[in-house]
Amino acid sequence: MKFFIDTANIEEIKEINSWGILSGVTTNPSLIAREGRVFENVVKEITEIVDGPISAEVTATECDLMVKQGRELSKIHKNIIIKIPMMEEGLKAVSILSKEGIKTNVTLIFSVNQALLAANAGATYVSPFLGRLDDIGQDGMELVSDLSEIFDIYGIKTEIIAASIRNTMHIYECAKCGVDIATVPYKIFKQMNKHPLTDSGIEKFLEDFKNVETKGEF
Ligand code: E4P
Repeated sequence: MKFFIDTANIEEIKEINSWGILSGVTTNPSLIAREGRVFENVVKEITEIVDGPISAEVTATECDLMVKQGRELSKIHKNIIIKIPMMEEGLKAVSILSKEGIKTNVTLIFSVNQALLAANAGATYVSPFLGRLDDIGQDGMELVSDLSEIFDIYGIKTEIIAASIRNTMHIYECAKCGVDIATVPYKIFKQMNKHPLTDSGIEKFLEDFKNVETKGEF
């Protein structure tokens, strides 16, 4: 399973990218707004840090404008993926952009049917939002695992990005059902790294090693 980071914060992206585990970045209008900077500048800066798919979302809700915004955003860098909300106009835009060779990520997916429509329209990625489904008392993981199974049955090339991840168990469950990608918030990456037995193990090794003679600097 590949990892993307779900943020528009440059410092967070730099830090997690330095671990050598990042394959891409997803942003959305809310994450961009949180940074208080010019949208295109943020996106460009991200492309200079991570060499992988960077999702940037259109804000139009009508096909022609979505296509226009998508074409503009795709000029920023070859790695830009145009994120388009799941809606009728969005499907039309995905179909047009994909025929032009512009990659898309259909976002705000909450059902298998929506994902199937997006895949058939030519989406490169679909983003099911599992945390937001959990929030309203539906099982987000069930959607992700159903999608994974159904895409496999039909050999659908569209990749699944598990999104709206809220905890480390979400990551574990996504990996078990073979999801292609998880887009993970900064805070969850930090939690994934931690285990109390690792911390106490390191402490004990360092303590025991204190009196060992060495030839170099250890
Ligand atoms: C995905 O691409 C979205 O940016 C994101 O995962 C939304 O997550 P949220 O439900 O925590 O806002």
